[in-house]
Amino acid sequence: MDQWTDDLRVAPDYPGRLARLRDLLEPGEAFVSLDGPTNLYLTGLAASASAITVTRDAAELLVDFRYIEQAQQSVKGEWRITQTGDPLTRTVSRAAKAQGAGVLSVEPDRLTLKQWHSLLEGADGMRCQTRENLVAGLRQTKDSGEIAAIRKAIHIAEAAVQEAMAEVRIGMTESELAARIEYGFKSRGGRRPSFDTIVLFGARSSLPHGAPGDTRLEPGMVILVDCGCVADHYCSDLTRTWFFGTLIPPWFREIYEVTRQAQAAAIAAVRGGAECKAVDAAARDLIRDAGYGAHFGHGTGHSLGLEIHENPRLNLQDTSRLEPGMVVTVEPGIYLSGQGGVRIEDVVLVTDTGAEALTSLPKDLQVIEP
Ligand code: GLY
Ligand code: MN
Ligand code: MN
Repeated sequence: MDQWTDDLRVAPDYPGRLARLRDLLEPGEAFVSLDGPTNLYLTGLAASASAITVTRDAAELLVDFRYIEQAQQSVKGEWRITQTGDPLTRTVSRAAKAQGAGVLSVEPDRLTLKQWHSLLEGADGMRCQTRENLVAGLRQTKDSGEIAAIRKAIHIAEAAVQEAMAEVRIGMTESELAARIEYGFKSRGGRRPSFDTIVLFGARSSLPHGAPGDTRLEPGMVILVDCGCVADHYCSDLTRTWFFGTLIPPWFREIYEVTRQAQAAAIAAVRGGAECKAVDAAARDLIRDAGYGAHFGHGTGHSLGLEIHENPRLNLQDTSRLEPGMVVTVEPGIYLSGQGGVRIEDVVLVTDTGAEALTSLPKDLQVIEP
């Protein structure tokens, strides 16, 4: 079993999604997918294995015995639902052929090389091609149901973090704090963490994606928490950094303040039409000008939705433009090896004129008294 195993509880516009995909297809072209998030987005079925083929006038979902009843109960509209015991790559090729397709199109980053070879072998005279950003492109802009689900996932994560942070004590390990946060997700209806929870104490907070371990909390340590959960299939993503102790070292106060200003600058640059790399530059330039450029080596943010990392990205390379309805993280950080790090991460909704904050936890430097 993997993560794609329950039904969407928001009310998505599946016919609209199918229609928008079809607008991108040529006559005789079948879009084929064996990808969980893609198939969930289009059909509403969350399955660890499924295949779809969509042409301008047909749509078929193929599943094995494990998912047939779920599919028949939950997948509505014009989807033809077929049970198969054969390899999905073979069955989906046959289904596309029966739809009258002459060309099979797949998104190249959504299938394995083995699946591609298997599609080629079963193509039976159809041409196989890759096309970027068919469904992935549609998924970049979120509808109101998707935004509601992301809000719910954020709300659960914030409540779980606040509850767990109220319980931190001298001697607690990083792993224990991570476990408490994840318990808070599930006890509030979050299905699972949206990625491996990061909890780092002291100098370990300079590891941008460190894993929690058995380091015990002592006065004078930084606490960095980066976590999120999945609710109604949508992800949240949240980072906060605290100081455990009342004597805050000047280096920490400084990098906290610079990170906070960098985040504010990037959020101020977010709006419909803004170039993604310009939003990244707003944070990066501020950190560089403060003298910490070498200590901020990751992107400023990323979109999120059914998956924790989606396009577009707020980084040095992404020249695409933000659009209203996109949902992105803004998460600059400064990491000083041997001393500690700071990252502050919020999720914002892109609007015509700016960014609507979806995250609500405070961002001023917070001290936890031992
Ligand atoms: N830790 C995952 C992220 O913030 O992107
Ligand atoms: Mn994060
Ligand atoms: Mn993130």
